[in-house]
Amino acid sequence: MTQTLSINNSQLLKLTPLEVPSRLLLGPGPSNAHPAVLQAMNTSPVGHLDPAFLALMDEIQSLLRYVWQTENPLTIAVSGTGSAAMEATIANITEPGDVVLIGVAGYFGNRLVDMAGRYGADVRTITKPWGQVFNLDELRTAIATHRPTILALVHAETSTGARQPLEGVGELCREFGTLLLVDTVTSLGGVPIFLDNWGVDLAYSCSQKGLGCPPGASPFTISPRAIEKLQQRRTKVANWYLDMTLLGKYWGAERIYHHTAPINLYYALREALRLVAEEGLATCWQRHQKNVEYLWQGLEDMGLALHVEKEFRLPTLTTVCIPEGVDGKAIARQLLNEHNIEIGGGLGELAGKVWRVGLMGFNSRKESVDELLAALQQVL
Ligand SMILES: Cc1ncc(COP(=O)(O)O)c(C=O)c1O
Repeated sequence: MTQTLSINNSQLLKLTPLEVPSRLLLGPGPSNAHPAVLQAMNTSPVGHLDPAFLALMDEIQSLLRYVWQTENPLTIAVSGTGSAAMEATIANITEPGDVVLIGVAGYFGNRLVDMAGRYGADVRTITKPWGQVFNLDELRTAIATHRPTILALVHAETSTGARQPLEGVGELCREFGTLLLVDTVTSLGGVPIFLDNWGVDLAYSCSQKGLGCPPGASPFTISPRAIEKLQQRRTKVANWYLDMTLLGKYWGAERIYHHTAPINLYYALREALRLVAEEGLATCWQRHQKNVEYLWQGLEDMGLALHVEKEFRLPTLTTVCIPEGVDGKAIARQLLNEHNIEIGGGLGELAGKVWRVGLMGFNSRKESVDELLAALQQVL
């Protein structure tokens, strides 16, 4: 007879019910979820084919179209974090040998390079120093040189705090028969986005930043133009879980079971999106801009310099230069331990050089800024 493994670690037997410190999350994400979102998430699950749940999925689709400003019929939430939605765009649109041109000016541009390569793309890159963005002339030259099937850009580069302007990029892509794929993980809900107006064909995002929801249900959208390419594939989408030809049948009229949806996360996402709609998208964007400008002023008043040129700074994520002689990691640790405030450190090229401060979704409030500035003043 098989013996049951016994808990012989006395530590395990002493475990008490979960207790987590209460933090103000002002890093690159996750940000704190809105209390109403947490309450929605705490509702008992129904089945993933229950008519009430199917109606909620329809609401999520409509709300996502609104926050993204798109009419794309296939606009859904992927079960997983932003990287899952990112992989969904790449997996569905890339066939082995496709030329994929990627704008790399930070950590997440490099992640796109890694993912596209894994799906057999012929990856080409255009690069910029971290913290800068591409202009239309640079993009035109790169597209004319590489003639890519897909151009992928990061709208809000979380590793640098830079906002990549997208006006005119879609038209440029159409001139060359290229599809435009955009990462909006750190922009959705906090930075003005007009997907259809800008001619974006594929986009993805996450729930835990500008939308003020816990991580795990991530927005994905695909234009009819990109769907055509998907329908003409010579090979199956190499990732079963993220295959939109299958997922589209669960989210669309057919309602065919694909996987068990993380029901409570979808409750949360629906509530987070509803709150954005209630506030009004333009008001929500203005709130992010107003609070971040208040933050920039406060930081500059303290003598701190910001890494990105003002015109291209994100309202959701600010990179602050760590002053000479200051131990950036120690300061962040002190903020966490003594003030319960989380900020982020630099990634890749900017490691040790910047702090990353996020003001996203529910956390984009004057009180959060005041709390951070007061704590920073003390620890510096
Ligand atoms: C720009 C960008 N893209 C993709 C991701 C990946 O998202 P996730 O960590 O939710 O998987 C992130 C995460 O911070 C991001 O900032």
